[in-house]
Amino acid sequence: MTTNTPNTPNTPNPQNNTETAKTNVGKIPQMAVINKISTPQLKKVHSGKVRESFAVDSGRRLIVATDRISAFDVVLNSLIPCKGAVLTSIASDWFEKTRHIVPNHILSQPHPQAVVVRECAPIKVEMIVRGYITGSAWRGYEKGKRTFSGVSLPDGLKKNDKLPSPIVTPTTKEDSDREITPADIVSSGLASKALYEQMAKVSLELYQFGATELAKRGLILVDTKYEFGIFNNELMLIDEIHTPDSSRMWTERSWKENQISPVEFDKETVRRWLLDNTKNGVMPLTLPTEIVQNTTQCYQGIYEMITGKTIRTQDLGSEGLARSLVREGFIKPGYVAIAMGSKADVEHAQKIAKIIRENGIPAGLRVVSAHKNGERITDIATEYNESPEAGVCIAIAGLSNGLGGALAANLNIPVINCPPFSDKSDLVVNINSSLMMPSGVPAMTVTTPELAALAALRCLNIRSVRDAADLKREEMKKKLLEDDLNIGEMSL
Ligand SMILES: Nc1ncnc2c1ncn2[C@@H]1O[C@H](COP(=O)(O)OP(=O)(O)OP(=O)(O)O)[C@@H](O)[C@H]1O
Ligand SMILES: [Mg+2]
Repeated sequence: MTTNTPNTPNTPNPQNNTETAKTNVGKIPQMAVINKISTPQLKKVHSGKVRESFAVDSGRRLIVATDRISAFDVVLNSLIPCKGAVLTSIASDWFEKTRHIVPNHILSQPHPQAVVVRECAPIKVEMIVRGYITGSAWRGYEKGKRTFSGVSLPDGLKKNDKLPSPIVTPTTKEDSDREITPADIVSSGLASKALYEQMAKVSLELYQFGATELAKRGLILVDTKYEFGIFNNELMLIDEIHTPDSSRMWTERSWKENQISPVEFDKETVRRWLLDNTKNGVMPLTLPTEIVQNTTQCYQGIYEMITGKTIRTQDLGSEGLARSLVREGFIKPGYVAIAMGSKADVEHAQKIAKIIRENGIPAGLRVVSAHKNGERITDIATEYNESPEAGVCIAIAGLSNGLGGALAANLNIPVINCPPFSDKSDLVVNINSSLMMPSGVPAMTVTTPELAALAALRCLNIRSVRDAADLKREEMKKKLLEDDLNIGEMSL
């Protein structure tokens, strides 16, 4: 979709920017944010510039809107608190209000920044509806272009004019979207004629509905895009609807006062700041705190203008999301990842996994060797480091244990070494490689599978697991007392 492309012809080049990644998260303590997010408990199926999608099961998908922001097609280092919640909640509101026009993929919204949707077979076409001539269409029109995805426009239009009637200008959904005519959509097999016609009709109805609703709030729905999928042979609206990321909106007042540059919603402040601060063609990637705060306020204002409601800001961010996902049963509150240096240690690993799973905590097994394919550790680390829920990693490597240290150096979750020793002399000779860690590498060492499992459960620090541990301890004390009373030889 091209609606977010800036109108300015001098787009700065973020590719040349060597600025290292840093965010302003720490400077805005009031609101928690979501940046990168992964979890070993849910398979990631798609990672976009702003949203992350996970498979809940074969029929359902969890879409998380992070607080990342992109401008000029590049994701910035700064996060915008509340943005993910605004985008998700605006879309949910519209999905609810447009059910009478077309069924949609929404099943539930477990968190302000996340929705659970029906997994549909996506139709690889973006249905763009334009009510005004602006953005990329205007840039083409200005150069003499009159036909857009097979639709002809009259001569004599001025920049940002209202079109005689809204038009549908589909594009393909590829790495770089390209215009496509309805006839080519049908001939290339992207959709049948009947299906395309249904999508076009529904898109126009959705646009009309959105434009009418927004007009009541003094806003113009300039252009927008819809995506559709098929579920049970039925057409479904998927992705998002009428959000500032999928649509261009102007205030009616500013369009009337100054048609050439009406007030654009959403990222206008950000784009302006980036352009003003681009030096030698290099665009900065980190926004100053003030711009971040303004942008948050701007998104909150957009939510209020569009929906008439105030955005909920409680429980935002990764931890809030994890709590919601646990509450709804999509994930457990913690996990244990067991990494072994070679498959030969699988029995040792399974003993640990069994105890962890008996406590209701998921455990997964991985094979990775610090010495032989250590480069994999950083790939594996991402999933654990980005997980919003608690996690622990157990490293199984005996002879010259480099794995525990390498994991502890690359992970932000606790790492416990549990080296498998063939006998006591093996233990005495090799234990030092687990015990002695370089500075800043806090791997702990436990020498039996049972204790490693229990130590991992303690590290998770989860209330239900602690309650279970209390019961076990009481049983143990009771048993010891019984043994004492039953031993029968107490008196000397
Ligand atoms: N219910 C659904 N079933 C199947 N696929 C879906 C569903 N809803 C959305 N999708 C797909 O999920 C993807 C979401 O992508 P997302 O918007 O996060 O990133 P992107 O479109 O690849 O890139 P960008 O960040 O530039 O938008 C889209 O390809 C969309 O078609
Ligand atoms: Mg997208």
